[in-house]
Order: sequence, then C-alpha cells, then structure tokens
Amino acid sequence: MARVLVTRRVPDGGTDLLRAAGHEIVSRADDTPWTAQELAAAAGGVDGIVCLLTDRIDAAVLEAGAAGRLRVVATIAVGYDNIDVDAAARLGITVCNTPDVLTDTTADLAFLLVLAASRLSSTAEADVRAGAWRGWGITQYLGRDVHGATLGLVGYGRIGRAVAQRAAGFAMRVLHHARHDTGEPGYIASLDRLLEESDVVSLHVPLTPATWHLVGPAQLRRLGRDGVLVNTSRGPVVDEAALARALHDGTIFAAGLDVYEREPEVHPELLRAPRTVLLPHIGSASLATRTAMAAMACRAVVDVLAGRSPANRVV
Ligand code: DGY
Repeated sequence: MARVLVTRRVPDGGTDLLRAAGHEIVSRADDTPWTAQELAAAAGGVDGIVCLLTDRIDAAVLEAGAAGRLRVVATIAVGYDNIDVDAAARLGITVCNTPDVLTDTTADLAFLLVLAASRLSSTAEADVRAGAWRGWGITQYLGRDVHGATLGLVGYGRIGRAVAQRAAGFAMRVLHHARHDTGEPGYIASLDRLLEESDVVSLHVPLTPATWHLVGPAQLRRLGRDGVLVNTSRGPVVDEAALARALHDGTIFAAGLDVYEREPEVHPELLRAPRTVLLPHIGSASLATRTAMAAMACRAVVDVLAGRSPANRVV
C-alpha cells in the first residue's frame, strides 16, 4: 500500500480517488500549515505528496523524498512556482498541477475585479457599511465604464482567453500581449504599447524570473491616470509598493487584486489605497472547482503510482 501525504484539508470528496486506489492518506487532523522542515521530514516516508500553493516544495524537501520513496508531487493549483521543478526533474520526481478545471472560475473572478475596480464598488460599499453614505449624489463614486472600453490581457493562455470571452459580452475591445506572437487578432508584441492602449489591464502570466515585477512604476505610468489594473495571477508579478504609490498619487485610476507579494501579508499602503478592491486569493474558490482541482491532483498521484502517465504533468 502506498502512502500519500495530503498537506491540508480539501473539500469533501477531493481525496476519494486516493482511498479508492487503496492508498493510505497521511495528514494532520488540525489542518495546520507544514513548515519546509516538517515537509522535508515527512517526504522521505511517503510515495506521493498532494500539496497546496502555500506549501514550499523546495530542493531540500524533494531530496529528502528522493532519498526515501517519493515519486510524485501534485499541487492543487495551476501555478507551481512554489515547487522547485528543476530539482524534481533532476531527482526523477514527477510534478503535476491542475490546469483547465479552474479556468472559467478564475476568469469569472478576474472579470468581477474588472467590473468592481472600474466601478469603485468596494469604496462605495465601505461607505454604506460605515454609515458614511448620506444619500444619492450626482458626483459620487464616479467610476469608469467597462462596456466599450479596451481590455489588455497580459498572458494569453487558458485563463486570459476565458477573460476575453467574458469581455466580448461587454462589447470591449480586447488586446493581448504574450511572449510569443499568437498570430491572433489583438496581439501586441510590446507590453508598453498594450499598457498605453488599454483602459483595463488584466494579468494572466505565471510567476517566473522573467515575470517578477513585470508591472512596476514605468508600466503603471504607461497605463495612465484613467487605467485600471487587475491581478489574479501571482502577487510578485506586480511591484506592490509601486502600485500602492500609483493608487495614492493618481498615476492610475484603480486596481483589483486577488494576489499579493507576501501572502497573507498585504502591503500596508495597499490596505490604505483609494479605489482598490482587495480579495484574499479566491480566484478558483468555488466549491465545485476546488473539489475538482483536488480530485485532479489525486488522480495524477494515483496514475503515477500505478505506473501510468498523468494527464497534467509539469515535469
Ligand atoms: C492557482 O491555481 O494557481 C490559483 O492561484 C489558485 O487556484
């Protein structure tokens, strides 16, 4: 019988496939996060790990696993920047992620942020809740129209394309920037030009050394004082301190964020920033999608441990 470490509690039914395959699940009853040292100590005694994006699966964890019997790590996320995939490849440990199942749910949330940030809904709601709304006023909460505006997508993978579909329903003009020419209408090779031409920019790139702080002070200036920035990808793609300054001094109009540079910390100046919608990394957080993501990760582990090739292999 194989042993599979499931680092955190997952929605009901998410690990059924592991049980059905007869594997023993190793987990903590109290659902506390594992430190890297604890993960390294546990990795040597299991055949597979099902982890979350908050677990650091670094070279030390993988080496400890390889010294034992670890064969596969499956993360319940599409992004896998928390896993040292080069070390995994070197050690012959398979890494899997959960693409596709979360595409529409995450695109829904990105579009929610496009709307909420453009229309200042968090600012307006905060006033209602605080009893600070004194009645209808013609100059209150003047946002920017989403319908008919230009949406710039940075990254044009599954989620970026799904956001583009939603934008079509709002009669938006959609542009996209990607590392390689997509050859499709709306492609713009220059990020600077995309920023200048867009009213709203939504980020859909993975976190890599090339995308770290892709959006900093210069890019925010190009987006401009009527521009709206939405980030549902990874926090470090945006220079958070620069974004906070840009919101405070009006360099851009508004921002909608679901991800942060040092989660769960949020830059204190962002917490105080005007015209900003802040969500706690809930892009894929619907019951159906999170359950499907957990099942997909478990299926990958079952496949690898049975000697089959998993559908969603990263390395
Ligand atoms: C992911 O999958 O990478 C998201 O950030 C969490 O759903």
